[in-house]
Amino acid sequence: MSGKVLTLDEAEAFILANTALVAPPHVPEIRLHLADEAHELWLKTEEELEAIGLPPPFWAFAWAGGQGLARFLLDHPETVAGKRVLDFASGSGLVAIAALKAGARSVLAADIDPFCRAALALNTRANGVEAEFRGEDLIGEDEGWDVVLAGDVFYDRALAERCAAWFEALAGRGATILVGDPGRHYLPRERLRELACYEVPVTRVLEDAEVKRTIVWRFD
Ligand SMILES: C[S@@+](CC[C@H](N)C(=O)[O-])C[C@H]1O[C@@H](n2cnc3c(N)ncnc32)[C@H](O)[C@@H]1O
Repeated sequence: MSGKVLTLDEAEAFILANTALVAPPHVPEIRLHLADEAHELWLKTEEELEAIGLPPPFWAFAWAGGQGLARFLLDHPETVAGKRVLDFASGSGLVAIAALKAGARSVLAADIDPFCRAALALNTRANGVEAEFRGEDLIGEDEGWDVVLAGDVFYDRALAERCAAWFEALAGRGATILVGDPGRHYLPRERLRELACYEVPVTRVLEDAEVKRTIVWRFD
């Protein structure tokens, strides 16, 4: 990315100016600063966004995988209650917020897009919870998390292959790995056990669909 680097305050101001505070349809308990029709964030071209220092705004959408996983955590709080949790590829922070509302002892949200730090700060504040953020690529790391959550990460082959190997290692030492996925191409099906299935309303402009069947999987 060659655009100018924004400060945390500038990133927060950009998010506030270009999003609305709304509840994702499948997780009405949580409110997030998301792209909406009024702000037309998704109509900006990648070049326009790059000129202001902004990679594609994944953080401005509640992805189907994240909505399914967040729904599962709120409906099954025992999954994370009292546990040390990593929300990998946190985007808006939706999954991290759901884990905290479900009673997680602590949540580390990690995403390589620096805008996600500002999105997480604004969105946790809007929901009265607190999470730590890490802007590094944590794939391959192990900080002893009890539960690792991954909403919608199997859309890219290289990322999916790296995640699969990492999740296998973490599951092998006893961590619980939960994945929310709406049928992305690179999902490693053979290693997954289905826990729940939802019909999740999504943004048509992103998914070319109104609803996505979304499964919460446990990585065994
Ligand atoms: C489709 S979005 C999902 C966001 C969120 N989990 C949700 O479900 O709404 C994918 C996210 O993965 C992040 N990402 C991609 N590669 C990553 C990596 N190596 N480490 C951390 N995050 C990564 C992107 O920046 C983006 O925010």
